[in-house]
Amino acid sequence: MRYPKEVVLKKGWEAIIRPLQKNDEALLRRFYEDIPEEDRWFMRHDVTDPAVIARWMEDIDKGKIFSIVALADDLIVGHASLHMRDFGSTRHIGRFRLMVLPQFRYIRLGTWLLLDLIQLAMDKGVSEVRSDFVVGIEEAAIEAAQKFDFFEKAILKDYVKDQRGNPHDLLIMVKRLHKQWGDF
Ligand SMILES: CC(C)(COP(=O)(O)OP(=O)(O)OC[C@H]1O[C@@H](n2cnc3c(N)ncnc32)[C@H](O)[C@@H]1OP(=O)(O)O)[C@@H](O)C(=O)NCCC(=O)NCCS
Repeated sequence: MRYPKEVVLKKGWEAIIRPLQKNDEALLRRFYEDIPEEDRWFMRHDVTDPAVIARWMEDIDKGKIFSIVALADDLIVGHASLHMRDFGSTRHIGRFRLMVLPQFRYIRLGTWLLLDLIQLAMDKGVSEVRSDFVVGIEEAAIEAAQKFDFFEKAILKDYVKDQRGNPHDLLIMVKRLHKQWGDF
């Protein structure tokens, strides 16, 4: 059984990684309230809207979105999700997002969450994972992805705008997943 997974962070801090559960709604809402607006701006949905979090809770167990959370002192300090499609030409691709509470950044939690998502994707039979990053802003995530052998697939020049209206490139990175030895 992979979960709950205890991870040791820098500074000797610890966290527990486990799947998001139905009764986590209040905790997850609180987590996103503590995420700075400049980070939330680049998400696909307005996570300060309780309906968005409520929808995520409904998606648990539906099979196409897998969310994991990291907890410290019974509070959510990190959230990561893997999104998959059940039909068509991009069925083999999983997409992910990561978010870590500012006080918990730069101590390896993002790396642990990413590692866990990659394992999840392999378990689900996904053969490629993709994530899009805002150049000049999501640099820590780009570095973490590079460490896991993600490579640049494309750059969309000046594709996204920050809150002040300044354009930024969007970097699309992918990683190919190999079948486990046991599958051969
Ligand atoms: C991206 C994010 C999840 C990374 O989480 P994190 O817990 O800080 O990540 P880690 O501590 O594992 O660090 C990952 C890498 O970032 C880089 N990094 C670490 N500390 C850094 C610092 N002080 N300055 C710049 N880069 C740093 C390093 O390359 C590090 O890898 P290393 O520890 O092996 O050297 C977090 O910064 C975040 O939530 N950012 C806002 C949302 C976002 O950008 N999401 C990405 C979209 S998928």
